[in-house]
Amino acid sequence: MTESLGSRPDQQDDAAEQPSPRQPRNGPATVSQIVRSERPDLETAPRIVVTGGAGFLGSWLCDAALDKGYRVVCFDNFATGTNDNIDLLADRPGFEFFEGDVCAGLQVGGPVDIVFHLASPASPPQYLRLPVETLKVGSVGTLNALELARGKKARFLLASTSEVYGDPLEHPQRETYFGNVNPVGPRAVYDEAKRFAEALTVAYRTKYGVDTAIARIFNTFGPRMLGDDGRVVPTFLTQALTNSPLTVFGDGSQTRSICYVTDTIAGLLALAESEIHGPVNIGNPTELTVLQLAERIKEITGSRSSISFVGLPIDDPKVRCPDITLARTELGWEPQVSVDEGLKLAAEWLESTLDLD
Ligand SMILES: NC(=O)c1ccc[n+]([C@@H]2O[C@H](COP(=O)([O-])OP(=O)(O)OC[C@H]3O[C@@H](n4cnc5c(N)ncnc54)[C@H](O)[C@@H]3O)[C@@H](O)[C@H]2O)c1
Repeated sequence: MTESLGSRPDQQDDAAEQPSPRQPRNGPATVSQIVRSERPDLETAPRIVVTGGAGFLGSWLCDAALDKGYRVVCFDNFATGTNDNIDLLADRPGFEFFEGDVCAGLQVGGPVDIVFHLASPASPPQYLRLPVETLKVGSVGTLNALELARGKKARFLLASTSEVYGDPLEHPQRETYFGNVNPVGPRAVYDEAKRFAEALTVAYRTKYGVDTAIARIFNTFGPRMLGDDGRVVPTFLTQALTNSPLTVFGDGSQTRSICYVTDTIAGLLALAESEIHGPVNIGNPTELTVLQLAERIKEITGSRSSISFVGLPIDDPKVRCPDITLARTELGWEPQVSVDEGLKLAAEWLESTLDLD
């Protein structure tokens, strides 16, 4: 956000329409009680809404935004998120949680300065398990989140994805590349939902003047990713930590670029606080083959695992690497955490959650 440290003057305080917050497991106080009794300064702090805040990226975003002095209103229906992530946030002053499906509508009382729309299954096993829900949250859910931003005159940030590039024919991928997506393949439920969400976001800017931004997030990893999430880093880490074979798809020559979570979150906040509309790639341009990644994870964890090769999923991208020139020049943002450093942190966290006896 460029200008305000307080609420925007054009916002009405319509607290009457605010639904009742769910009682967080570890934090019985509501945000209004906390604001009044402990942190009076929070009453004027800028306020953001995070959909999908019980998920991996969403919970990190809520944490980082609270650290920066924002008040945070989080929405989630736990389709793929966890109560543990909310429990980590529940006691923090300025945090408020509502359980609900963004496709059913999004009503928030009081001022809102930024809407971050992250709600969506994101890992392939999850969006393949929830194909219709994924398309719905990308379309109806995005519409509702945009309507909230429009009504509150808030900035809107869409968490889009590098998957809009599909199996790319341009490498590395710049924001100007239109992508190569199979609209009827299994991955389409996610890829096309995000492509639709991007188009809708642009339409709300051109038709209604909503101040929008689109972040195209590349593969992000780190603590709080569940071992059975299904994405490549937690899968390899779990396999390595349990000395099970690392399952590499195909011959492992396909490439991936993985970004540590705190870097991605810093990128999302930098974009939200800028006046840039995007799309902007947010990712780490260090490119590794999947086989190199497996070997590096074996080394970092000191694992005795072997590597086994399994069939390549349909439409699996052969290459993936962001061109982050735009983020570097327009946002002054680039990743700070090396891949090895990030993998060590993620491995330590995952190890602490696994029963390795
Ligand atoms: N993590 C990545 O590498 C990555 C890469 C590109 C894009 N993204 C995008 O970032 C966002 C967050 O991804 P993540 O990795 O944290 O995934 P995640 O699955 O951990 O989090 C998504 C959250 O959205 C919630 N959700 C899903 N449908 C909902 C609905 N209808 N109503 C309310 N809440 C709903 C889930 O319960 C979950 O808490 C997603 O939009 C994803 O597409 C993530």
